[in-house]
Amino acid sequence: MSRRLALVAFAFAVLLASPVGAAAEERPPVNKAVYLDASKPVEERVEDLLKRLTLDEKLLLVHADSKFTTAAIPRLGIPQRWLSDGPHGVREDIGPHDWNPAGRTDDSATWLPVGVALAATWNPDLAKAYGETIGREALARGKHVMLGPAVNIHRTPLNGRNFEYFGEDPFLTARMVVPWIRGMQALKVAACVKHYALNNQEWQRGTIDVEVDERALREIYLPAFEAAVKEGKVLAVMGAYNKLRGQHACHNDYLLNQVLKGEWGFEGLVMSDWSGTHDTREAALHGLDLEMGTNKPYAEFFLADPFKRLLEEGEAPMSVLDDKARRNLRVMIGTGALDGRPAGALNTKAHQQTARRVAQESIVLLKNEGALLPLDPAKVRTILVIGENAVRKHSHEGGSSEIKALYEVTPLEGIASRVPGAKVMHAMGYKSGRWSPDSPPGNPDVETLIARAVEGARQSDVAIVVGGLNHERNQDAEGSDRKDLALPGGQAELIRRVAEANPRTVVVLVSGGPVDMEPWLAQTPAVVQAWYAGMEGGHALAAILFGDVSPSGKLPATFPRKLADSPAHALGAYPGKGGTVRYEEGLLVGYRWFDAKGIVPLFPFGHGLSYTTFEYANPKVEEPRVAPSAGAKAPVAVMRMDVKNTGSRAGAEVVQVYVRPVAPRLPRPPQELKGFAKVLLKPGEAKTVSVALGADAFAFYDPAKKAWVAEAGEFRIRVGSSSRLIRLEAPFRLKTNMAVAR
Ligand code: GLC
Repeated sequence: MSRRLALVAFAFAVLLASPVGAAAEERPPVNKAVYLDASKPVEERVEDLLKRLTLDEKLLLVHADSKFTTAAIPRLGIPQRWLSDGPHGVREDIGPHDWNPAGRTDDSATWLPVGVALAATWNPDLAKAYGETIGREALARGKHVMLGPAVNIHRTPLNGRNFEYFGEDPFLTARMVVPWIRGMQALKVAACVKHYALNNQEWQRGTIDVEVDERALREIYLPAFEAAVKEGKVLAVMGAYNKLRGQHACHNDYLLNQVLKGEWGFEGLVMSDWSGTHDTREAALHGLDLEMGTNKPYAEFFLADPFKRLLEEGEAPMSVLDDKARRNLRVMIGTGALDGRPAGALNTKAHQQTARRVAQESIVLLKNEGALLPLDPAKVRTILVIGENAVRKHSHEGGSSEIKALYEVTPLEGIASRVPGAKVMHAMGYKSGRWSPDSPPGNPDVETLIARAVEGARQSDVAIVVGGLNHERNQDAEGSDRKDLALPGGQAELIRRVAEANPRTVVVLVSGGPVDMEPWLAQTPAVVQAWYAGMEGGHALAAILFGDVSPSGKLPATFPRKLADSPAHALGAYPGKGGTVRYEEGLLVGYRWFDAKGIVPLFPFGHGLSYTTFEYANPKVEEPRVAPSAGAKAPVAVMRMDVKNTGSRAGAEVVQVYVRPVAPRLPRPPQELKGFAKVLLKPGEAKTVSVALGADAFAFYDPAKKAWVAEAGEFRIRVGSSSRLIRLEAPFRLKTNMAVAR
């Protein structure tokens, strides 16, 4: 349609909306068409706009016209819609029609600590600030939909994308994801929870067919998505690459039509993962609303011309297209795409402060023998910082969650800036697959690197080895899984010998999950898990190492002594064979397995030390009167206890509440996380902590009833500072069966 004609048509359309016949002089100001009137309810605007769209225009709404956009429809004032990665910040512009950076110079952004680090804070308030930060930067960058949070469960420690996800527990993931989404969407930026569902490995991710029993699906793999939809009101969901029970997740009738849209009442849009669409009929009829990233010319996308043919041949009712268009319009209008949007803010000090707060609260003190930490900044004179990860930057790697960070403070820079009066030196110590830019001249071999580091450590007050993984293939990277838990590049030998040379050795692990520590842990007094800690990571690490703040992070995933102790590996149920992976472990994922099998992990789920100590006392279980009509979240029990800081430093404790069914009718894990509270206490301060437990805290999914049920019976409410360090326990009897409409 020519521009002039389009303008005339647009003017005509607008006039149609205004009262006809009133004399010019009395005519009220031309009313905006309903769909353009921001004072009207979204649904009214959606329906008004939908009826104005032609078939071809509706089709433009349901597939991409570049890597990260859908087409504008100028005739109706519909702008180009922008989607952007990712879960850790606003990615640099890519494309428009390939995977190369667009080459902009104004698209640096705030790089927040990765998803698993945010989970390790166990702080929902920080999760809200996290979502707000990305939302504000998305507005500033003109993005309507952000492709995060990413919430797949850590089924195996080897999954290359575990660093993006929130750990092994569905309850913790759900509690952190809901405020993340609310924080972002309050700014009129749509969040897109991903990857729905069962994308728990990168190996054969585009084709692997997942076989999983219904209870594990419902109780482990879906709850975070369910919370995102029902509590977070997430506006978009991204289908996963894999199949479930033989059907691609991006157009899986059970996952999309029956569960997500049917049972959960999801009214937003379902988009495919990029090139995750494989069939027009399935995409049309099984609930896919927006096709992205298909490796075809845009007109040949499954939901483009092939879909049009399907409709014109009567193979699919027009109502199917209308529903897809409606859902896209609902998200567009709901995020102000047709109205002026707030300006947002990019790379602000406040955003960088949030990055630092998340990093500081994410760091987990795994071991601290002889209270080697915190180091005294006034006394330490010479420090040797060892390792490639002391100087390597990680923000701009890892796959789609990469960020072109405005800056990135490395551990070496953070430590040096924290103790300007000390002599802080660096030794590379080990090398990973690819050298970091400032690799030592001559590319020395591993033995030379170790010898230099050991000699330097021997002559220093303190040796800090910053090791772990990076985003290279078969480490923490999208598109590949790790092959084992080993530290690459000869790090084990390095750490062992450095610790021998200097008893004041600290190991800092930069990774998205557990590594093999057995070769050196016994002789290493202090170990810190620092994750990929965002652009302020170096400053946050230094603040912890020198005691400006006590560590308060808690592991969101079990760190096993050896890979074979982990369920998927103990059962030989990873990575699958013949194109299918069977989740043989069922419900027993993560600590659920270690508890059920009596296997002692290296560091348990929920573990994390502090620079102070906490005392738990006076447990009591209160039972509020619950009206029969009350929802599943209405407390049926409130666990109260006193927590006191019995040390000499301020510190935050994460009080964790696990529920153990005493004699369940169906098999259930020995205990499951059903509540937590993070409490900051000054030295000597005590607070009463309350954790409310709704019926859903006692419930399980009954496949026979196709429903969640809480059955009367005995339970134990266990309060711990980790899943294994139970400090208090109290009996609780659920007196009646309760249907649990979640
Ligand atoms: C990728 C990822 C997904 C990302 C998308 C766009 O393959 O699986 O998380 O948002 O494609 O980059």
